[in-house]
This record gives sequence, C-alpha cells and structure tokens, in this order.
Amino acid sequence: MDDIFGSGFDDLVVARPLEHLGNSDLSFGGRLKNPLKIHEDGGESGCGGKVWIAGELLCEFILEKSNSDDLLNGWASNSKQFRKIVELGSGTGLVGLCIGLLEKNNFHKDIDAYITDIDQIVPLMKQNIQLNGIENEVSAEELWWGEPLRKTFAPSEHSRDKEEDFREEKKVDLILAADCVYLEKAFPLLEKTLLDLTEGETPPTILMAYRKRRKADKHFFQKIKKNFDIVEIKDFEKYEYYLKQRTHLFQLIRQ
Ligand SMILES: C[S@@+](CC[C@H](N)C(=O)[O-])C[C@H]1O[C@@H](n2cnc3c(N)ncnc32)[C@H](O)[C@@H]1O
Repeated sequence: MDDIFGSGFDDLVVARPLEHLGNSDLSFGGRLKNPLKIHEDGGESGCGGKVWIAGELLCEFILEKSNSDDLLNGWASNSKQFRKIVELGSGTGLVGLCIGLLEKNNFHKDIDAYITDIDQIVPLMKQNIQLNGIENEVSAEELWWGEPLRKTFAPSEHSRDKEEDFREEKKVDLILAADCVYLEKAFPLLEKTLLDLTEGETPPTILMAYRKRRKADKHFFQKIKKNFDIVEIKDFEKYEYYLKQRTHLFQLIRQ
C-alpha cells in the first residue's frame, strides 16, 4: 500500500481535456447493451462537469463483476446484496447512472442509486438521469462532505429520525467514490462523511477509485487508516491498464 502513496507523484494531471464537452455514449466495450449517455459541460459547473478516469474504472469493475441478475454478484470477496447505493462526488453521475441502467434493463431488484455532489452539479446530474430515462432508479441529491447527513443517508438509529415510516426505509449498503481524493482542504470533510456513513454495527461496503496525482494525497490515506482498512482490489481485467494510468481501486473497510 505504501508504494502506492509513497512515491512517483506528479503535479495535478487533468484527466480529460477541458474541451470535453457535449453528449457521449459509453458502452464500456459493449458490456452495456444500451450505452450510457453522458452530458459533460467541460468543467463549467466545476471539476465534476466532465468524466474522470477513476469513474471509468469503477464502471468497468461494476460491469465486469455483475451478471444480468444482480449488482456485484460476481465479485468473489463479496457476499452481500446491494439495494441502496450512494455515490459521493459523482460529478456527471457516471457510476451511479451505470448502476441505474443495469437496474432498469437487467436486475429489477428495487435498487435505489443516489448520485450526490455539491449543489451546482445537481442540475447536470439531473440532466444525465433524464438523458438515460432512469428517473425511477437514480436520484440526484446535494451532499456536501463534512455536513451532517440527511436522514435518507444516516446509518444508525440514534442519528435517524424517530418517525415510524422512516425506520422501515432501506439503509445505505454500498458507498462509491471515484476521483474524490484530490483536494487537500477537502480531505477532513470527505473523511467525516465516510465515518458518518459507516457508523454502527453493519457498515456499508465502500469502493473507492483513486487516481494518484499529488504527494499530499497520502495524508488522506494515512489519516483514514485509523478507522478503515484499505484493501487494494487487483482482480479485474483492466487492472494493468489502469495501473499504467496510476489509477487504483480500493475497498475501505470500517474497523
Ligand atoms: C474529480 S471530480 C470526480 C467526478 C466523478 N466522480 C468522476 O469520477 O468522473 C470530484 C468531484 O467531487 C466533488 N466535490 C468536491 N468537493 C466536494 C465537497 N466538499 N462535497 C461534495 N462533493 C465535492 C466535485 O464537485 C466533483 O464533482
């Protein structure tokens, strides 16, 4: 793990050219029969306005490890079923939208995916939900890291509302984050949100895709090691390809 964070960092590398703008169809090598439609605004609404390589990695992994029956049911180290998913710092919404399309066209398992980000990205995420016709499967919500969690996402009874109907609601069981470790001042905020989301007896699974850019990134991983085991996932087809792009996939396991 230390060799990932310890050496070989460059200055910030822009994963996509700024002119990446407009609509594109992504089928991930034909794995998605109905390609994902993504509108990118070229960064107009912030860095989340375009697709980043870590988001692509997470989609590839999800598509490879899911068959037509259920989400991630081919991921050997997992035995859980995922029914309520929250993606942090979703940007265009790429990963959550990919799950929404699978749910609509294949799974039919009552999976709810929430793509979240700062308020100014929410309109772009909503546009992308509409472009793919997955309004029933995916919701776009504001979720600022470091802020108290809305009750839809809060994990434990004591941090939840006492209303009877709310107790019946599904708990978040999968958290996704792609290219969210890039801004040092946001590290403690992201850490707080990860801790808040994983409070309690049965914490959700976390998958984090990460592109190595700055030396300072290692401070984030060193800090979260106090509460999370960081396990690198290597058993997927395009591991070597992404390794060359300094892009990694981790499972964070709450201790
Ligand atoms: C590099 S982009 C990655 C976008 C997307 N996950 C992908 O892989 O294409 C980082 C995202 O984190 C979001 N972000 C940054 N700081 C945030 C904060 N404090 N709270 C919530 N989201 C934040 C940005 O708005 C942006 O969409």
